[in-house]
Amino acid sequence: MTKNKEGALTVAYDVARVTVVDHPLVQHKLSILRDERTGTKQFRDLVSELAMFEGYEAMRDLPLEDVRVTTPICETTCKQVAGKKLAIIPILRAGLGMVDGLLSLVPAARVGHIGMSRDEVTHEPHEYYCKLPQDIGERICLIVDPMLATGGSAADALKQLRHHGARDIRLLSIVAAPEGLVRVLEADSDVHIYVCAIDEGLNERAYIVPGLGDAGDRIFGTL
Ligand code: PRP
Ligand code: URA
Repeated sequence: MTKNKEGALTVAYDVARVTVVDHPLVQHKLSILRDERTGTKQFRDLVSELAMFEGYEAMRDLPLEDVRVTTPICETTCKQVAGKKLAIIPILRAGLGMVDGLLSLVPAARVGHIGMSRDEVTHEPHEYYCKLPQDIGERICLIVDPMLATGGSAADALKQLRHHGARDIRLLSIVAAPEGLVRVLEADSDVHIYVCAIDEGLNERAYIVPGLGDAGDRIFGTL
């Protein structure tokens, strides 16, 4: 990390491997998500909607095939997704909040789970659960977690997926700290990251600033 001429910390990362989904509707919804007055139900709905927006971008390169369709007017050739298999892998718990939005786009996707909890003192993740589809190597894997803070949880989840044979992995987070992006990109030379915003950095408790607070607590109402 270096400082720019205004004295702010800047980080260099491979921009080709990061997509910021900054559609005006995404920015609008994200501003409500960040607001401390937003209640559990609305927070949960917004996380799900933002996951859908990210899903569109993360699946932009899905292969298509021609199909013949008869409209009420005539027969024509259309495109359909060519049966590419997907897996959605939420990092528990907060990642669960993004699953339904993505399943509404790809209802047949398999869902794996990786349980991680961050140590409050060291901020390092501890894995407590892992259950993945057996054919993970043949699937496009979408790891989902709303928060990419230090990047420790996402980096460990990626390592675990690679260990199980996953090849095509995309990470979908809603808010990222620059430090987290750098850590994940350095830890895995192939992953592509989708985020709605890259924030300023981390505070002394390794929370994202300005961020949105504790995503898991806000999704599940455990504040
Ligand atoms: C939060 C969040 C991420 C992680 C991000 O989970 O949902 O998984 O922290 O932090 P990192 O990038 O520094 O690893 P937490 O461990 O608080 O668990 P929870 O989802 O059960 O609330
Ligand atoms: N986990 C969260 O839920 N929020 C943060 O800002 C950092 C980690």
